[in-house]
Amino acid sequence: PASHGVAAALLAWYDAHARVLPWRSRPGTPAPDPYRVWLSEVMLQQTTVAAVGPYFEKFTRTWPTVHDLAAADDAAVMAAWAGLGYYARARNLLACARAVSALGDFPDTEDGLRALPGLGAYTAAAVAAIAFGRHAVVVDANVERVVARLFAIDVPLPAARPAIRAATATITPTARAGDFAQAMMDLGATICTVKAPRCLLCPLRGACRAEAEGRAEALPVKAPK
Ligand code: ADE
Repeated sequence: PASHGVAAALLAWYDAHARVLPWRSRPGTPAPDPYRVWLSEVMLQQTTVAAVGPYFEKFTRTWPTVHDLAAADDAAVMAAWAGLGYYARARNLLACARAVSALGDFPDTEDGLRALPGLGAYTAAAVAAIAFGRHAVVVDANVERVVARLFAIDVPLPAARPAIRAATATITPTARAGDFAQAMMDLGATICTVKAPRCLLCPLRGACRAEAEGRAEALPVKAPK
């Protein structure tokens, strides 16, 4: 698919249809608080957008800044995390908040973020793009599915990951990379769904190889377990 056309079509769709979520700024408005972006991305790695909402509200009410979270009691944070699962993530969250607070603020590059304790490649890319407007390539499971279909990548997952990442890089725009990433996630969550994708409503329909070949639903291919 033509890279410029995909980004432009997707961003136009996002401007009209972005989900309103508590950690987002409105499309086109100034970037949101890095602390809120980081916290939401860590929470969203294991839980759906709908389930994260109340936890996000509680955390940001109790600890409005990364410095407040850094100074929190471990036990209070673990208790607030209860229900989100994977306690190792809450421990990583605290270690990361303390490192950020010691630095004074969040690093504003993907590499700087990646160097923080407990902050992985996905989170570094997502925060760099969404909070700092960096040209980072953000790939989560939703993006993986959208891109596998758009480019009709039929290598089974997980072997397809390098090809999917490379294809995502070719369509990620230099400007608005954070909106682009979140638009891909919204598209994957609401239109380019696992089952019964709503191709008739898709802003990328004209560019999608899987749709042209009538096999959107069959992609991505999963390796047999
Ligand atoms: N899933 C993970 N991060 C997200 C975001 N920023 N917007 C929507 N869905 C997401």
